[in-house]
Amino acid sequence: MDDPTIATYDRIASTFAERTFDTISPELAERRAAFARAIVERAPPNRFRILDAGCGPGRDSKWFHEQGFQVIGVDLSDGMLAEARRRVPGVDFQRADLRHLAFPPSSFDGIWCCAALLHLSRSEVPDVLASFRRLLGHGYLGLTVKLGEGEEITDGIYGPGTPRRITYFGRYELELYLERAGFEVRAAAVDQTEAQDPQHPWLGILAQTTLFTPLVGVVAVVMDGDHVLFSERADGHGWNLPAGFIDADEAPDEAVIREVREETGLEIAIDRLVGIYARPRTYRGQPRGLITHAFLCSPTGGTLVPTTEALQHVWLPPATPPTPMSSRHHLEILADALAARTTASAVTRMRRLH
Ligand SMILES: C[S@@+](CC[C@H](N)C(=O)[O-])C[C@H]1O[C@@H](n2cnc3c(N)ncnc32)[C@H](O)[C@@H]1O
Repeated sequence: MDDPTIATYDRIASTFAERTFDTISPELAERRAAFARAIVERAPPNRFRILDAGCGPGRDSKWFHEQGFQVIGVDLSDGMLAEARRRVPGVDFQRADLRHLAFPPSSFDGIWCCAALLHLSRSEVPDVLASFRRLLGHGYLGLTVKLGEGEEITDGIYGPGTPRRITYFGRYELELYLERAGFEVRAAAVDQTEAQDPQHPWLGILAQTTLFTPLVGVVAVVMDGDHVLFSERADGHGWNLPAGFIDADEAPDEAVIREVREETGLEIAIDRLVGIYARPRTYRGQPRGLITHAFLCSPTGGTLVPTTEALQHVWLPPATPPTPMSSRHHLEILADALAARTTASAVTRMRRLH
């Protein structure tokens, strides 16, 4: 459907501003204050940057500015931007479409998007939330939308000739979009006092960016004399050096000893840290990246046994590894380990594997 929303806002900008600029419901005022409190944990507000996305005449930009935040307001309606610039000197108001925001990543500590996401079509919302996530880096998102189902073009309270597209959202639907875009919902509330449109009360959500870090792992280059320990993976993906992920409560050196024991039955002692490696990796279908710690180790006891992770184990000279190896990264790490072994003063490698 053709979208008349922005042309309508251009026409009703001054009426809209008169109705809303000096009036705010207690519920919305409290959500706005809670959003500001969440951003300001330890430092003064002037360290923090807020994007008022779909700012309209600037009521909330003005409040954030008065609290001391650095504020940028964006809107697609020139009429609304003119109202905002006139009413809120000192704030930078820019013309921008929420669907194509061009700020660099991590430009803001908070994004406040009040009654604006509801003017996009449902299919556009996941991408817009993902772009909010990029613009935040780490931070908070304050969203206000209308609760309900479906979407419509309606004249609403501004009378005939003021059509706007409005998309209604279910609470759990929006929470799912947020989760997929990399946010965790911290609070959600429905304004039960909504008198204008009881079918579609306001839904307010405070969300925080999810911490999204790489996986962390260990690799063991276990050497007995001039031979290296290789294990054949039980999942059929070939041979590798014993390796695995670090548990939440483990240090890397503890993890490598446990992993070798779990995977092979062998007890080891760590001779040195060979290097720390970053490499691409997907986990459950999502790109995550892996930071892995490689250790040069010596066997101290135990007995090699088949395990749930490995079918069999062999000691081989490093120049003749078994085939197929599951990953050439392990051969690169092995080469670094051999270099470290022959040079007492060898520095710990830190590199990205491709
Ligand atoms: C209901 S008003 C809300 C204004 C303000 N946030 C408030 O709470 O008073 C919706 C605003 O979203 C803006 N808007 C709608 N679609 C937009 C888009 N794609 N990009 C930027 N702004 C948009 C409109 O121009 C309008 O100013």
